[in-house]
Amino acid sequence: MQKYISNSPEQTESLGRRLASALKGTEVIAMFGGLGMGKTALTRGIASGLGADDCVSSPTFALVNEYEGRCKIYHFDMYRINGIDDLYAIGFFDYLDTGVIIIEWSENIIDALPDDCIKITIKPGDSENSRIFCVEGGSLDEDISI
Ligand SMILES: Nc1ncnc2c1ncn2[C@@H]1O[C@H](COP(=O)(O)OP(=O)(O)OP(=O)(O)O)[C@@H](O)[C@H]1O
Ligand SMILES: [Mg+2]
Repeated sequence: MQKYISNSPEQTESLGRRLASALKGTEVIAMFGGLGMGKTALTRGIASGLGADDCVSSPTFALVNEYEGRCKIYHFDMYRINGIDDLYAIGFFDYLDTGVIIIEWSENIIDALPDDCIKITIKPGDSENSRIFCVEGGSLDEDISI
């Protein structure tokens, strides 16, 4: 497990860009952590690091937003997803292996996550803008510093 501390949204985006540099292009990145923890901010950094210029926003209502960089990027928000039937309904499984899949509210689809997914858990740090990112799984074994 790797641990990173961010003290601003900019540092979180920067961490996302560093993470992106270690991606092959078909990973599933499952993010855990409550409201306003910085999941969308991290996604913005990952998308930017993958070369997508589009403005990354929360897919809360769209369920999935699609971006194109050096690979496809699918940004899911599972906040309103309840169980496997919902996942089939949105075609989630068809996206696997076709691009980098970034998931907000992975808590809601825990049983459907691939075994080899990268898990990123975000917790509050010791000040208002401080966040602790714990990264585990996948093959992100290089040391990424921000
Ligand atoms: N270190 C930090 N990293 C990321 N965001 C931060 C940080 N410090 C403060 N913030 C603020 O926290 C909020 C994070 O919002 P963001 O939409 O990225 O969170 P989220 O986890 O996606 O929330 P939601 O669960 O509502 O989708 C922003 O308002 C941002 O300005
Ligand atoms: Mg969000």
